[in-house]
Amino acid sequence: SFEVELDSTGEVLEVPEGRTILEVVREAGVDIDSSCEEGTCGTCETVVLEGEPDHRDAVLSELERELGETMMICVSRCRGRRLVLDL
Ligand code: FES
Repeated sequence: SFEVELDSTGEVLEVPEGRTILEVVREAGVDIDSSCEEGTCGTCETVVLEGEPDHRDAVLSELERELGETMMICVSRCRGRRLVLDL
């Protein structure tokens, strides 16, 4: 598991194995647009302020993956312990 911090509120949410960031963040009451929820459409693209995403989508280019400035939170996860998202 890993943690996601919502930059707007400072709230820290635990994302366990088997759950997505999208699910956990929505459950916390954040309104997020999504469509495919399979990492292919780009609708849920979210800005990453800190931390290293583990990209599992089919939307970002190699370069965008390396930069790690955004991620698809319906499928992608975290390489370290915590991500800070612009939510
Ligand atoms: Fe389609 Fe996340 S909802 S990429």
